[in-house]
Amino acid sequence: TKPLRLGIAGLGTVGAGVVKIVQTHADLLASRTGRRVTISAVSARSKSRDRGVDLSAYAWEDDPVALAKRDDVDVFVELMGGEDGPAKAATEAAIAAGKDVVTANKAMLAIHGQALAETAEAKGACLRFEAAVAGGIPAIKALTESLAGNEITRVMGVMNGTCNYILTRMQDAGLDYQTVFAEAEALGYLEADPTLDVGGIDAGHKLALLASIAYGTQVNFAAMSIEGIERITIEDIEQAADMGYRIKLLGVAQMTGRGLETRMSPCLVPATSPLGQLENATNMIVLEGDSVGQIVLRGAGAGEGPTASAVLSDVLDLARGTRVSTFGRPAGDLVAARAAVSTAP
Ligand code: NDP
Ligand code: HSE
Repeated sequence: TKPLRLGIAGLGTVGAGVVKIVQTHADLLASRTGRRVTISAVSARSKSRDRGVDLSAYAWEDDPVALAKRDDVDVFVELMGGEDGPAKAATEAAIAAGKDVVTANKAMLAIHGQALAETAEAKGACLRFEAAVAGGIPAIKALTESLAGNEITRVMGVMNGTCNYILTRMQDAGLDYQTVFAEAEALGYLEADPTLDVGGIDAGHKLALLASIAYGTQVNFAAMSIEGIERITIEDIEQAADMGYRIKLLGVAQMTGRGLETRMSPCLVPATSPLGQLENATNMIVLEGDSVGQIVLRGAGAGEGPTASAVLSDVLDLARGTRVSTFGRPAGDLVAARAAVSTAP
């Protein structure tokens, strides 16, 4: 069987993590699918930066669009980030060339995902993005595969590791915002533009993706109600603790008689509840279906290993020949997301 050949654009926290898994688990990955996974070419801004991985066996492309179009690339792995720019251009180039794409880029997908997926479907290509929501937690697989027989009644959870890290470290270690922010940065949790994290936008992107999948519709991201954690003070956290609560950046999406309602905002949750006890960059995704009832997925929502693990899950599905795009079906009636009143503590 021919190997599945990757072209990886973006060699930062996640990209380097993916290279490490492909290198260290080569035999394990092959044993899982019967097909070897190899890397043909890579791209990043700096060719000379030490990334802690040996890249000498791979071709180098300065231009991610050129990488996406290479004949020796079967799957284009987009790990650069950014809503538009080179990430979108290269993804479109890969799809136009009929290549499958795996990406962790929720910012791009929350805005352009539906259009990209429709183009991919027309071209016979797959667009996969397990890593885009909640890092290592298989939230998208749970919705698209395990719960496929359910009508989804509610999706909610803590979807941003940075915010959860900042909120819990401020409370547990009594550290100030600047100190815990620097810790989160060192751990590789932050977006390139960290205002996306603390502003609730990144978590909103993830909620929009989950809601799109759960309800078979396109979420109007601009209409979502989003509030971040920038205005939460140590006094707010202490007052909540005095009352037996913790502050969490919580997202909720549910279909009501008035349409799809989505909300991302800081909320008070009981300190002893599973949500209240989420520490560090842990995420929790709660899915409710009419037959299954409630299921809860909990795990690392950010960082090199967990996110690379999710990227590999998509890559291995493609190696197995599973060629289903998450958005790759008729979208059905478009239901505009309704802005709901946010409930700041
Ligand atoms: P990083 O900032 O660590 O890495 C980004 C990489 O993209 C860098 O290697 C950078 O090159 C490269 N890059 C940026 N612009 C270009 C360009 N124009 N041409 C070529 N290469 C470019 O980001 P992360 O690894 O943290 O994130 C990557 C993606 O994964 C993002 O979409 C992010 O939202 C998503 N994600 C991240 C998670 C995390 O925990 N970090 C978790 C889940 C998803 P160079 O290194 O030379 O500067
Ligand atoms: N910046 C994101 C977070 C990365 O902190 O959750 C994972 O998507």
